[in-house]
Amino acid sequence: MNRNINFAIASDHGGFELKNKIIDYLKSKNFEIKDFGTYDKSSCDYPYYAKQVANAVLSEEFKKGILVCGTGIGMQITANRFKGIRAVCPNNCYCARMSVEHNNSNILCLGQRVLGEGLAVEILETWINSVFQGERHQKRIDMIDE
Ligand code: RB5
Repeated sequence: MNRNINFAIASDHGGFELKNKIIDYLKSKNFEIKDFGTYDKSSCDYPYYAKQVANAVLSEEFKKGILVCGTGIGMQITANRFKGIRAVCPNNCYCARMSVEHNNSNILCLGQRVLGEGLAVEILETWINSVFQGERHQKRIDMIDE
């Protein structure tokens, strides 16, 4: 695994438990992480947390972001409002891999109410281990921001 990556992580209440499991997993693999909240199960607003992580990735203090909510969708929609963020919500390992190889995704969104813990961790592992292929894909990514 590429351990040069550090992660900004956050969830709302709908993703709180899966976020904690992901943090435990990443720490067990010696990755550096920062948890931007939420810190308990009280109802809260996912856009606030998505914005924290999007800004953390754009600041370049963190290489990658992880956002967890009920479905992953609200987090994805919010994070993608930020120019330079490519947030994805893959529900299988193939899409997780392609989202990096072709789209250079920099935020992974996961849905606690959609994915079991086992699949969520496999998607995360696949996403971390995938490598952007550049070349023609870089040109297309540049076109997104133009
Ligand atoms: C919260 O109930 C839920 O709407 C949120 O976690 C997320 O799934 C939104 O996309």
